[in-house]
Amino acid sequence: MKKNRIILAATTFFVAGMMLISLNLNAQERQAKPWPVPEEFKNMENPVAADAASIKTGGVMYTKYCASCHGKTGLGDGVKTRALKDFAGDFSGAYYQDQTDGEHFYKTKVGRGEMPKYEGRMSDEDIWHVVNYMRTFKK
Ligand code: HEC
Repeated sequence: MKKNRIILAATTFFVAGMMLISLNLNAQERQAKPWPVPEEFKNMENPVAADAASIKTGGVMYTKYCASCHGKTGLGDGVKTRALKDFAGDFSGAYYQDQTDGEHFYKTKVGRGEMPKYEGRMSDEDIWHVVNYMRTFKK
């Protein structure tokens, strides 16, 4: 009897441990990879004022070009997300919102891996409109 209880306790510990480990691995997978940005972009001033007109234009562009992967509200849950290897990021959180406009601009312009490069597809001005729009995702 006693032996059975010990086995049961050991199994419970083991299963709980495995669950914790897999939860932790999942959390890591959902974390965006560090993406260094050159200083001149990081400190670049946004030349487009984030007024209502800019946010409106940015929203139209975002829906057209970005929402399929980044999701309607920037959570990284668009219709194409499941097919992606990398997590597209959660634009509502501090990790994203604490970056400068220049960093958002740079990453959108040059792309990396599964994140398309928008240079040549969108004008710089339109990219700034989208950068302004993506500020509205802040929680
Ligand atoms: C085909 C899917 C896809 C589309 C479309 C797409 N992205 Fe991305 N995006 C990604 C993925 C995947 C990453 C993460 C890339 C990485 O970390 O290497 C990413 C990363 C980013 C980042 C960096 C986030 C961070 O970690 O700091 C920004 C900014 C961004 N995307 C903006 C945009 C904008 C703006 C558009 C539309 C003009 C867009 N993306 C369209 C898939 C996409």
